[in-house]
Amino acid sequence: MKTRITELFGIRHPIIQGGMHYVGFAELAAAVSNAGGLGLITGLTQKTPELLAKEIRRCREMTDQPFGVNLTFLPTLASPPYPEYIAAIVEGGVRIVETAGRSPEAYMPALKKAGVKVIHKCTSVRHALKAEAIGCDAVSVDGFECGGHPGEDDLPNMILLPRAAEELKIPFVASGGMADGRSLVAALALGAEGMNMGTRFVATQEAPVHQNVKDAIVTATELDTRLVMRGLRNTERVLTNSAVEQLIEIEKARGADLKFDDIMEQVAGVYPRVMVEGQMDAGAWSCGMVVGLIRDIPTVQELIDRIMDEADQLITQRLAGFLESVPA
Ligand SMILES: Cc1cc2nc3c(=O)[nH]c(=O)nc-3n(C[C@H](O)[C@H](O)[C@H](O)COP(=O)(O)O)c2cc1C
Repeated sequence: MKTRITELFGIRHPIIQGGMHYVGFAELAAAVSNAGGLGLITGLTQKTPELLAKEIRRCREMTDQPFGVNLTFLPTLASPPYPEYIAAIVEGGVRIVETAGRSPEAYMPALKKAGVKVIHKCTSVRHALKAEAIGCDAVSVDGFECGGHPGEDDLPNMILLPRAAEELKIPFVASGGMADGRSLVAALALGAEGMNMGTRFVATQEAPVHQNVKDAIVTATELDTRLVMRGLRNTERVLTNSAVEQLIEIEKARGADLKFDDIMEQVAGVYPRVMVEGQMDAGAWSCGMVVGLIRDIPTVQELIDRIMDEADQLITQRLAGFLESVPA
């Protein structure tokens, strides 16, 4: 399949693995890139720029295909040393960056000077237009269904993607709720030129996370995610568990007075405990509604091949079949 996204990134299939905290290590990024998609190392999971440089080297040992790095701009006061992370990316020879969280405007000159292609992940048409205006090469349009931070507009992809298509000149991929060939074909029909997946890639053989996480994803249904931290305007879609239920109780009790400190226990430092140790009730961790469509743990190669075969069949058989002329 050839789209502006495959051309832009030099990949065989228009499928991107979104940055994921404590999931997007070299093993997963390399597996996705080797299977013809675009794998991304999650920059901030590496605690220092030096560790990120090391992770990039490790990834390069596992793949000769293009891969990228996710840089998430956090809503915290004490911000990580982003210029040094960018230096590690550039010096490591990586030429693709997925930005997320906030506008990458301040860092665009440094990224562009180094010839880095920037795909900005955002949850609204206005933020996508801003990304286009500041020189991003593409955007990842993340609908309300998505795992992680869906923003505060609550627009599902059925509306958000065609709206993005109406406004944007740069190419975009659909993100949030994508799992299979059906998702890809629907995304293309709605105007996207590829898709970005998070949750689906966690339940793969190569995702370097505890087996309990993969099993929880396979077991969960589309009714099992919750939105938390809305009161802080930092809404996150997570898989429900006992800590999330507690968090929601605290949010109800505190109402408009909710402070981040009130929910520290349920949200801070949770990822290593869940992803590495497999403590499934340790706290709130990102997971999309698409969890209801995930029923197996294939290799990344099997997953991507299956998606592309299914998309091909859908387009050439099911959809083309509807166009067959009806005999008079
Ligand atoms: C476990 C997990 C961790 C995530 N961590 C990040 C992150 O650190 N930075 C980021 O930009 N997006 C993060 N995301 C969001 C994904 O990159 C992607 O946008 C999202 O999962 C798409 O929705 P889907 O889960 O329905 O596929 C995370 C998602 C998951 C499931």
